[in-house]
Amino acid sequence: MSNLVAYEVHGAIALIALDSPPVNAMSVEVRQGIVDALAQAQNDDSISAIVLVGRGRCFCGGADIREFGKPRLKPYLRNIIDQLEASKKPVIAAIHKTAIGGGCELALGCHYRVGDKTASFGLPEIKLGLLPGAGGTQRLPRLIGIEAALDAILSGDYVGAEKAKELGFLDDIIPGDLESGAIDFARKLLAAGKGVRPVGRIKIDARGATEIFASARKKTARRARGLIAPERCIAAMESALTGTLEEGLDLERKYFDELVQSDQSKAQRHLFFAQRQAHKVPGVTADTQAREIKSVAVVGCGTMGRGITMAVANGGLPVIVLEADNDALDKGMKLVSDTYAGSVKRGSLSAPDMEARLSLISGTTQYADLAEADIVIEAVFEDMDLKKQIFERLDQVCKPDAILATNTSSLDINEIAAATRRPENVIGTHFFSPANIMKLMENVRGDKTSPEVIATVMKLSKTINKVGTMVGVCDGFVGNRMLYAYRTQAEFLLEEGALPHQIDKVIYDFGFPMGPFAMGDLAGLDVGYQVRQHRRKTRPSNDRYSFIADRIVEMGRFGQKNNKGWYHYEKGSRTPQPDPEIETLIKGISAELGITRRQISDAEILERCMYTLINEGAKLLGEKIASRPSDIDLIWVYGYGFPIGKGGPMFYADHIGIETIYSAMKILHDKHGDMLAPAPLLEELARSGKTFADLQG
Ligand code: 3HC
Ligand code: NAI
Repeated sequence: MSNLVAYEVHGAIALIALDSPPVNAMSVEVRQGIVDALAQAQNDDSISAIVLVGRGRCFCGGADIREFGKPRLKPYLRNIIDQLEASKKPVIAAIHKTAIGGGCELALGCHYRVGDKTASFGLPEIKLGLLPGAGGTQRLPRLIGIEAALDAILSGDYVGAEKAKELGFLDDIIPGDLESGAIDFARKLLAAGKGVRPVGRIKIDARGATEIFASARKKTARRARGLIAPERCIAAMESALTGTLEEGLDLERKYFDELVQSDQSKAQRHLFFAQRQAHKVPGVTADTQAREIKSVAVVGCGTMGRGITMAVANGGLPVIVLEADNDALDKGMKLVSDTYAGSVKRGSLSAPDMEARLSLISGTTQYADLAEADIVIEAVFEDMDLKKQIFERLDQVCKPDAILATNTSSLDINEIAAATRRPENVIGTHFFSPANIMKLMENVRGDKTSPEVIATVMKLSKTINKVGTMVGVCDGFVGNRMLYAYRTQAEFLLEEGALPHQIDKVIYDFGFPMGPFAMGDLAGLDVGYQVRQHRRKTRPSNDRYSFIADRIVEMGRFGQKNNKGWYHYEKGSRTPQPDPEIETLIKGISAELGITRRQISDAEILERCMYTLINEGAKLLGEKIASRPSDIDLIWVYGYGFPIGKGGPMFYADHIGIETIYSAMKILHDKHGDMLAPAPLLEELARSGKTFADLQG
């Protein structure tokens, strides 16, 4: 028998325990172990019921993702689940923490499911560009109904114990020790003469199915534009209504095999491992102890301060917000309550959850109230002198080991740290707007930030459900420096013959939620203008520079905030409308520069924008500002909306081919000057025939 699956006998009950750290993923050895243990229980006449548990961190984290894309090895999970379901002796799954993916499907193959209060189930395959491939699309709707099953499968979200019981997924929530409680549950079943209860034989309640599927398709088209997996999930679930279980399982498997080979799923699997790898930060060893964060303070309750405050409270931590005066504080706190109330109104948050989150948030105008915070996150105006004053003050009032973090989007963290007597406790925590929604935290280590502080902030990212990355200090860090390069390229294209709506459409069709100009209007054009004015002194004089964006701001066009920017906006509307005034301006600037405008193809737009982005990413890797290509992918997918199904710019670069990108950059360099010189690392990879994946380490 496999040593990854334990078998114990407790009177008439056999206990099968998955014991494969860290998450009991179902590798071939674990699958074989289950088959062997099951056979042993079936062949033993003294056994009348079987309890299936997972030891360690969780019940089961699903199929072993590392086996995907390799030849499939027997025994297949689907067959194991069929065997469980066909067992004549009742099988009870006993769940703690998570039963997800194949782990949830394993539990669905059992005749009863119990859990402790930490139990949750979920089918997150969609987040890996897949569909549940071992019966999830067929058994979950049979057990909990089509609507709830669609919700779980299309969101990939986990459902907690209470809700799982309400939906009928869990038969009971067991207080105290789960294993002994599950054995008792099995004994009681036997005593009551209850036998097997296969989920696969439940007849689906098909009432309202047509409308439910139509509404799911509509939502999916909007939320998961361009992704194949959601439609396959819906189609497989529809088949559960029309055919036999066997036919449904066959279709599900066909779709799974197709998706597992798809570029989209490969990209999404890359992002799964990238998120875990991002936590392995150079210089931070396994024995570095993260500090405990029990309370958080935020300075500034503006756009970002409010979002960060909500993100922290959403993660279950108490948070105190400091503002400059009572008016600003009241205004900020009201907007926080309004945002939560809006979520309750839309149905995405329950009223008790809103109350629970609000009860974690308090406000102050007194620095003394921050004295006990474990970490303070500053989010005041982007002004170095102001930030330094605030850090000096925080250094005086906060306890000695409190971490002082800044949400600056571009300023030098080392200079801010130097304003304190504790530079080792200073770090950047760069959130993205709206910070309560956007998943990314681009954390920034200063030269003196201690490994312990780095480990603590990375852990905090996880606690508040963010994708955490760690980068080094440079102007704009990783995300905004790449954004600057990509936007600049888009502006050159305007000078040469393209218009904002053409470029934005190409980028949107590629899969971003919006193109660079619509995004600029949304964020506000005046902020970038100020940054560019500030940079003017340091910009090399022979670099090509486009003045279009500056002229637009000088015309009093600040973006959506005053209904005109790169586009114009009808009052009360956020839909960008091409504006003849902008077209005239752009054409005038081309003429001023002596450029004869030409028809620019969509392919050229995409190549130039994406290759410039990738090239800047390669520069950041070469300069060691980013530690690995996959960190850049996370930053662009979760901070800037790079299409998830393409895996991020560096993963996409490998897909295109390094040599192709390098050759294109050489041409751009010759035409536009040194700012578009191919990154030395790109050249090195092209010459050696290597890829960014080879640098992952
Ligand atoms: N396969 C292989 N490795 C896995 C894995 C899996 N399903 N799930 C987690 N791991 C690995 C991680 O890569 C990580 O490895 P590392 O330490 O070498 O970096 C380690 O396990 C620990 O993972 P986490 O840091 O994420 O641990 P947490 O305790 O924070 O979270 C978890 C545990 C909730 C189980 C989380 O790991 C998770 O969400 N896992 C993926 C779940 C998933 O997507 N399952 C579906 C797989 S597809 C499937 O089942 C297909 C089926 O329908 C046929
Ligand atoms: P904002 O102007 O909306 O908010 C700043 C807030 O700080 C205001 O509420 C102001 O009253 C408060 N404040 C100013 N001085 C203060 C003081 N001395 N003490 C306490 N509070 C004070 O600015 P926003 O957009 O929230 O930006 C904040 C920081 O976040 C900046 O560093 C910015 O670069 C960064 N950032 C902004 C992003 C965005 O999209 N807006 C994205 C990522 C980072």
